[in-house]
Amino acid sequence: MARRALAAVVLAAGKGERMRSSKPKVLHEIAGRTMVAHVLDTLAGLAPERVVCVAGPGMEQVAEAALPAEAVEQPEPLGTAHAVLAAREALAGFEGAVLVLFADTPLIRAETMRALADAVDGGAAVALLGMRPAGANEYGRVVLDRAGRPEAIAEWRDAGPEERALPVCNAGVMAVDGRRLFALLDRVGNDNARGEYYLTDIVALARADGLETALVEVREEEALGVNSRAELARAEAVMQRRLRERAFDAGVTMPMPETVYLSYDTRFGRDVTVGPSTVFLPGVTVEDNVDIRAFCHLEGAAVRSGARVGPYARLRPGADVGPGAGVGNFVEVKNAVLEAGAKANHLAYIGDAHVGADANIGAGTITCNYDGFRKHRTEIGAGAFIGSNTALVAPVSVGAGAVVGAGSTVSRNVEADALVVERARQTERKGWAARLRMRRNRQSSGE
Ligand code: UD1
Ligand code: CA
Repeated sequence: MARRALAAVVLAAGKGERMRSSKPKVLHEIAGRTMVAHVLDTLAGLAPERVVCVAGPGMEQVAEAALPAEAVEQPEPLGTAHAVLAAREALAGFEGAVLVLFADTPLIRAETMRALADAVDGGAAVALLGMRPAGANEYGRVVLDRAGRPEAIAEWRDAGPEERALPVCNAGVMAVDGRRLFALLDRVGNDNARGEYYLTDIVALARADGLETALVEVREEEALGVNSRAELARAEAVMQRRLRERAFDAGVTMPMPETVYLSYDTRFGRDVTVGPSTVFLPGVTVEDNVDIRAFCHLEGAAVRSGARVGPYARLRPGADVGPGAGVGNFVEVKNAVLEAGAKANHLAYIGDAHVGADANIGAGTITCNYDGFRKHRTEIGAGAFIGSNTALVAPVSVGAGAVVGAGSTVSRNVEADALVVERARQTERKGWAARLRMRRNRQSSGE
């Protein structure tokens, strides 16, 4: 079989009213990325010649999420067949296999998309994706002929009891011969329970023309369609399971994997340990031999080889924890580099800062980076020692090897190897406390 060129139409318009959301359904996220982006990214693996994303009016964000794919507008959400028709001009003259994908069906793998396109390249006019869900559901039902080929699809709302009892359900995704697609779509009507133009009708239309149809089956979890928040959570669970498998394969130990939340792009080296209840938002890279202890929250951060993070640490965007560095409990790091071996072990805020190699940041240290108008930077030299409960009022620098006494508020630059102490001199009155106690005792016995 000779593979022909491949194009794809991603349907991302439509109401999605069961989400009860002011935002388009396909912009809801799983594993830190919109559903439409998941579909487009999987699709990119097949290197299609043309990709068209169908969005509704005012869905600029959908068009933006679809970039670099071309976005076209479906002026009114009149059904899935009507949506594909919006791509007619963009696909003019295209004669290969056209994948029709739903942006609300984000878990389909590239192999499955490929299998559908191969069925069309092998001679089918329409190849559709089927599944056999275990429980009750309202998917369309696939009517098969004796040879196991699709004859028609009955939408749930239109199906009679016999059709509803059919075991194979329509996952929605199809591949259609580009030479037939628009002629078939032109014949789809809207005389049905929802008054919509159903893409699913092209199966019966193709059969009526004596054309070949094919069925590709996958497990239900891969074909899960998201129409509600509950289904969104189910899709998320499937995606999290996949991402955890990928982490294990990369060499990560997770003693309680089901409590760890990963993003689509979380990257791990080998011999990494991730403790329970840790959250990875997008943009996190973790190198080899890193120990991330329980209850950490990371986003847009890099953790270099041999570093230790947590328990209870928060790395915000731009945090870069250097090789062998340590970020301990209740430490927040944002837009700050900690060079090799630097340590902030307890209760600190390090924002808009650069911390030199082997510097030590004491408990309770705060970089005061914000003056109410702008952010300012703090520079801490290599080997510097910042005593506990220090406020570093940025912009400010502490030179290499300098020592800042505990409790200081540092607002002027400190030279390398200097000692800075900024606090009131300690006073002591001998016996003062004992005298106070005596006085108080006399007063209360006299009452
Ligand atoms: C669809 C299928 C159904 C299948 C199910 C699988 C049809 C008619 N029905 O039903 O057989 O079992 O998917 O999940 O195809 N969309 C548009 N424009 C529209 C309508 C929808 O772009 O006018 C998009 C939606 O954004 C969505 C996709 O098409 O991504 C599917 O539409 P949806 O309304 O969710 O179809 P289902 O009722 O789930
Ligand atoms: Ca759907």
